[in-house]
Amino acid sequence: MDVMPQEERLLKILRKIKYPGFSRDIVSFGMIKSLAVQDDEVQIILAVGSEKEQVKKELLKTIREALESAGGYKEVKISFDAPRPADSTPAAKQNAASAGPRTLPGVKYIIAVASGKGGVGKSTVAVNLAASLSRNRKVGLLDLDIYGPSLPMVVGISETPKVTSDQKIIPIEKYGMQLMSFGFISGNTAPTIWRGPLVARMTEQFFEDVIWRGLDYLILDLPPGTGDVQLTLVQKFALSGAVIVTTPQKLAVLDVKKGADMFRKVNVPVLGIVENMTHFLCPECNAVTEIFPGRGGQDESQRLEVPLLGRIYLTPEIALSADAGYPYVLQNPKSPITAVYHEIKDQILQQVEG
Ligand SMILES: Nc1ncnc2c1ncn2[C@@H]1O[C@H](COP(=O)(O)OP(=O)(O)OP(=O)(O)O)[C@@H](O)[C@H]1O
Ligand SMILES: [Mg+2]
Repeated sequence: MDVMPQEERLLKILRKIKYPGFSRDIVSFGMIKSLAVQDDEVQIILAVGSEKEQVKKELLKTIREALESAGGYKEVKISFDAPRPADSTPAAKQNAASAGPRTLPGVKYIIAVASGKGGVGKSTVAVNLAASLSRNRKVGLLDLDIYGPSLPMVVGISETPKVTSDQKIIPIEKYGMQLMSFGFISGNTAPTIWRGPLVARMTEQFFEDVIWRGLDYLILDLPPGTGDVQLTLVQKFALSGAVIVTTPQKLAVLDVKKGADMFRKVNVPVLGIVENMTHFLCPECNAVTEIFPGRGGQDESQRLEVPLLGRIYLTPEIALSADAGYPYVLQNPKSPITAVYHEIKDQILQQVEG
């Protein structure tokens, strides 16, 4: 956020205010929709997901108290605005009609799974997170990687989706989820001659052409990086939050920052980091072998003020599940990695639905 010193001071105070019931502050939650300070007058607009009056009341009280004890503010105006939202709320409908981010028909919450860098396990995390969520909610998964769609393989789908008479695409149902990928349509022959702007347009088009039915969550497997496609999506569609996948080494961690910055700029809350391939656990002797030097996740998540949602170790079984076209968490319901996925899922549910 590009802010003046006065706003800087105010943000510093707000960063100390935890969202009721959470250990996380309202700024890193992405709840500050706007703030303005002029001399001793402050105006804050909060984007809060909870409909609960109690939560809002408590927030108002805590913020007022914090500003009072910091001193220097005479008039404090605080108001609430709807967050990036369920498509049924009036604010969402208004959003859809205005130039603001658009919601998708048939989808309540859109969660992007992103990574600054390729090959860190983003698609693996997206499919397993979706599968874990689908135990509690109605879930769709959209693989938006034009160049390297991986969903056809990891869920073992080789059929082509049906198209309605008005050229809308119907997602393929498998494992209790609604699934869609560029790869279902184009096969795996990625049109590598396409350049950024065309890919961005195609992606946006694709996004609008798929008919989702009654989804609570749509999980987006974004292509790696922070380029045109990612920017188009995070700006144009009302994302409820983003999950960033990384491996622990330094370079990947820098990319996390890039990703987190991209989402924050457009006020999409970064729900947290999933650290993948953290270590190798010997299946026979249970010995732990670190794969990457340093401890990226914990330290970085604190520095970036984004929670570490979970750490997933390296195991050949994950790659085997992907090859078999069967989401790991469904195939291995009792594994410790599956337990981590469920914990990640619970934290996301809590953050998004409050
Ligand atoms: N924890 C893990 N243990 C073992 N193998 C893993 C793990 N996570 C991912 N993999 C494997 O690593 C490879 C890369 O994973 P994946 O395709 O999910 O990465 P990605 O970030 O989506 O890559 P891309 O940038 O190409 O989209 C895959 O073969 C996957 O099966
Ligand atoms: Mg991928």
